[in-house]
Amino acid sequence: MTQATGSATQITAPQITVLDTGGQYTHLIARRVRELGVYADVQASDIPAAELKNRHGLIISGGPASVLEKGCPDIDPAILGLGIPVLGICYGHQLLARHLGGKVEKGERGEYGIAQLNVTAPDPLLNGIQQSRIWMSHFDTVSQVPLGFKVIGSSEVSGVAAMSDAERRLFGIQFHPEVVHTQVGKQILENFVFRICAAQNDWNVSQRVPLVEDQIRAIVRDRNVFFFVSGGVDSTVAYTLCLRALGPERVFGIYVDTGLMRAGETELVRSIFYELGAKHFAVDSAEPEFLAVLNGLTEPEAKRRAIGEQFVKVQERILATEHFLDGHWILGQGTIYPDTIESGGTAKADLIKTHHNRVAGIQSLINAGRIIEPLTSFYKDEVREIGRELGVPAKFLSRHPFPGPGLAIRCLCAEIAAQAEATKDGTILPIRSVGVQGDARSYRKVLALKELPSKEAIEVISPALTNRRSDINRVISQCGTKAPIESLSVFPASITKQRLDMLREADLIVRDFCLATGFEELVWQFPVVLVPVGAGSARESVILRPINSVDGMTADVVLMPAADLTELTSRLLNIPEVSAVFYDLTHKPPGTIEWE
Ligand code: XMP
Repeated sequence: MTQATGSATQITAPQITVLDTGGQYTHLIARRVRELGVYADVQASDIPAAELKNRHGLIISGGPASVLEKGCPDIDPAILGLGIPVLGICYGHQLLARHLGGKVEKGERGEYGIAQLNVTAPDPLLNGIQQSRIWMSHFDTVSQVPLGFKVIGSSEVSGVAAMSDAERRLFGIQFHPEVVHTQVGKQILENFVFRICAAQNDWNVSQRVPLVEDQIRAIVRDRNVFFFVSGGVDSTVAYTLCLRALGPERVFGIYVDTGLMRAGETELVRSIFYELGAKHFAVDSAEPEFLAVLNGLTEPEAKRRAIGEQFVKVQERILATEHFLDGHWILGQGTIYPDTIESGGTAKADLIKTHHNRVAGIQSLINAGRIIEPLTSFYKDEVREIGRELGVPAKFLSRHPFPGPGLAIRCLCAEIAAQAEATKDGTILPIRSVGVQGDARSYRKVLALKELPSKEAIEVISPALTNRRSDINRVISQCGTKAPIESLSVFPASITKQRLDMLREADLIVRDFCLATGFEELVWQFPVVLVPVGAGSARESVILRPINSVDGMTADVVLMPAADLTELTSRLLNIPEVSAVFYDLTHKPPGTIEWE
């Protein structure tokens, strides 16, 4: 019942396939089906029907396009004649209506957020459901159902919130059952998956572990496995799976110390791997090489590129060493399911990681059958579950995400000196950071307010200022300074070991403080950023950026209790070179989580 496909370990055929029309919730739909204990995968929406013949059911996802536009994401219409149940969600619902002869129109007004579902006719999809709360996000609307369909639910705005042709087993819903705001979402998916598709329970992550280990042995055969480990959850769990499957003699791990990591990271990674039972684990000290390529760079994308290219060079250098020349090895990677799919619902961080795992050198190893990726069937929360099953310490599995380019993108640089500028809105600091406005990247200055952060500053003042002023994309507020903020300047600076050490010191102060106060558990990620802004001999400032997020695609600022913030600020101002401490008040969008 298991089959090996190339580098990836794929286990059994999926019963339910989600057809991706580019929506940000596509993966969430597949995860929800898996949470019901049924294996589901994601495919491009126009995958040929012939490849879907053995599925128990198909779900067409929502997406940002309009079915009324030319060239919009489509399905192979033949899937509607396979005799397999199909559920269209949002855009998928409209696509179904259009293909089957119904009518889709631009709505008079969109319908966004919470709405009320009224069940208008009995149907297997809405079995057991009365009136209930649903979550909508659409502009277009189905105005007439196709022949053979009946309306089974409506909302105030959508006459056709749900439709069904129970005989042909084709269903459409305008709302999103996969998001938690839809009260009966789980029940609707359950009705579809079990009652309508008659799928069997076949997905239980912990029961999968022995199967994955079998797969690893089948793909690796008598070779050894070699991993570049990052200290992140994915590569650590993938490594541990191989360790358990093949034994410590045959699994090698190298951690590249780029010099861009947080304080204590190398020691922590070493101790974790020791604890996991690693026998062949080494640290490659590459700090000088990384600092050399970063020297003089100030532009964020240039820094990211330099780090990515240097990483590939270090990998190639290591793979060319004597140890690996015998060719009797295979490279292990921690690639997870969303990383393998390029479209729809894939966070920027994942795309960047995909990029890392698929650079030219790695691609040629994949083509030569010399890569093993044991986690390509799993989502992040499933990877954590496997990690727990394998005995990876819980503290390690719940670590905050940390960007590949490390502290280099939290250590801002400047080419030329510039003076802060007082305006009626606050003080403009002429240091630029990255933001997302509309669908585009922005690179703009920062506005600093004088007051301690308040809820009002975050919810009202900050969005109003970033909307009104086209010269900024972020608003921060002062927590403490050694000199008045109007007197601050930007100083020319690039990445140096000394500045990275200072950032590590500030970051460690913040981390220890948050662990002690429990604030660490309230945030999803807490970047600490160093900017070359100050006065006199104290030429640096520290920015605090605690946020909450589900997947990194959007983020909300989290406020620290005022007394704690005062204490933390005074600890940071004890660093002699630090002139000021600020709090970032910018949600994402318009600011990105990282400053670069
Ligand atoms: P942004 O700054 O885009 O960050 O709002 C979203 C999430 O992605 C992480 N991030 C990265 N991760 N390489 C990575 O591996 C990168 O270049 C990178 N840039 C941002 C960021 O930490 C956050 O979790």
